[in-house]
Amino acid sequence: MYPDPQSRSKALYDRAVASLPGGNSRTTVFMSPYPIYAARGEGCRVWDVDGNVFIDCINNFTSLIHGHAHPRLVEAATRQIALGTAFGLPTESEIDLAELLASRLPAVDQLRFANSGTEAVMMALKAARAFTGRPKIAKCEGAYHGAYDYAEVSLDPTPDAWGRNAPVSVAYAKGTPENVLADVVTIPFNDPDAAVSLIREHGAELAGVLVDPMPNRAGLVPADRAYLEALRAVTRETGALLIFDEVITFRLGYHGAQGLWGIDPDLTTLGKIMGGGFPVGAIGGRAEVMAVFDPRHGKPALPHGGTFSANPVTMRAGLAAMELLDEAAFKRLDALGGAVRDGINTAFRKHGVPGRAVGLGSLLKIHFSEREIRDYRSAYVTAQEARRQAVFSRGLLDRGILAAGYGLMALSTPMTSAETDAIVAAADASLAEVAAAG
Ligand SMILES: Cc1ncc(COP(=O)(O)O)c(C=O)c1O
Repeated sequence: MYPDPQSRSKALYDRAVASLPGGNSRTTVFMSPYPIYAARGEGCRVWDVDGNVFIDCINNFTSLIHGHAHPRLVEAATRQIALGTAFGLPTESEIDLAELLASRLPAVDQLRFANSGTEAVMMALKAARAFTGRPKIAKCEGAYHGAYDYAEVSLDPTPDAWGRNAPVSVAYAKGTPENVLADVVTIPFNDPDAAVSLIREHGAELAGVLVDPMPNRAGLVPADRAYLEALRAVTRETGALLIFDEVITFRLGYHGAQGLWGIDPDLTTLGKIMGGGFPVGAIGGRAEVMAVFDPRHGKPALPHGGTFSANPVTMRAGLAAMELLDEAAFKRLDALGGAVRDGINTAFRKHGVPGRAVGLGSLLKIHFSEREIRDYRSAYVTAQEARRQAVFSRGLLDRGILAAGYGLMALSTPMTSAETDAIVAAADASLAEVAAAG
């Protein structure tokens, strides 16, 4: 249930706006007129400060693959906290996690840890520049990769800024320097011919091509294999590095998206689920490329520090989370995701509401459109679609389901068919409201 104006959530928000601009530290948790404040979580449920309980389909924006307070993760983290939370020395924990991740990801020989996906993407782009000696990067229109200036170019261009044909580089934040825009080549997602010709055009200056194989903000539709193969071929041809942002897609399979698609990038960025619920990021790749970080022969090509990088609490919780996430767990998550997508798609048809659920594995996104969704532009919501999305989201909340306001859902291993049935039933009832509202 969305809390009423007499609720503790509302009172906390009134207090928050005095000390936090807009009342919070993350635009993503902003909710109008006020957000729901969390009190605690357990398994796949969250309790708010007013005692309401929700099935959590946000999972901290996909980062909690085992839900909340999983006993094995609590044990791993608290054991380490008692031994010390961070040292000015390396610990064995980062070797353990690096070995596990490298053993799972086909294109990763070595890794470096960081504290967020933003930082991982920033270091990957800097690594591409350091390795190639070139200044520019290419990224897909509408794809989110965190807050590094270069990575957030053309994240949300409005139709009036789309340009005639090929995407143009558009600032996301006010104050983005023109030089940043000049050093970013924006390519369309899932259009191999256009992407290849732009990459060739800037070939001699291009250090890296950054791509998320299933970009959430650009529709959460999987990349066509032909698209990723074209990016792999053209980056080999021009000498740019291919960088897969797997901060979210590492959720899709035991060997990541690179394993699912069977394509080896030169660099991979990770974050979210691999930290076991703690802040985390990582950059991995071929040893030859990762050598830019190597300090054994004097100042490295790319110095990389970070006071909390590879802190042992995150490393130990991350290792426990990854050990729990075996191939059987992925199989279960795929089945849960399939059941929710199928159930919601049936409900769309039943109520005659245009739209569908897309996604793969434990991730899904609701679109209120029958257009073929292939990229940012085809996923771009009309005013009517946004209104329907808002009615639907509120309907889910009132029925005890937490999902991102823009239609993203991420499932977790503690869920069973009881929860997926409850999610589908809530979606069905909410779609009836959407149909009634027109
Ligand atoms: C694909 C992708 N890359 C990078 C990031 C940035 O990660 P973080 O929020 O940990 O900085 C995100 C965050 O949602 C993401 O979805």
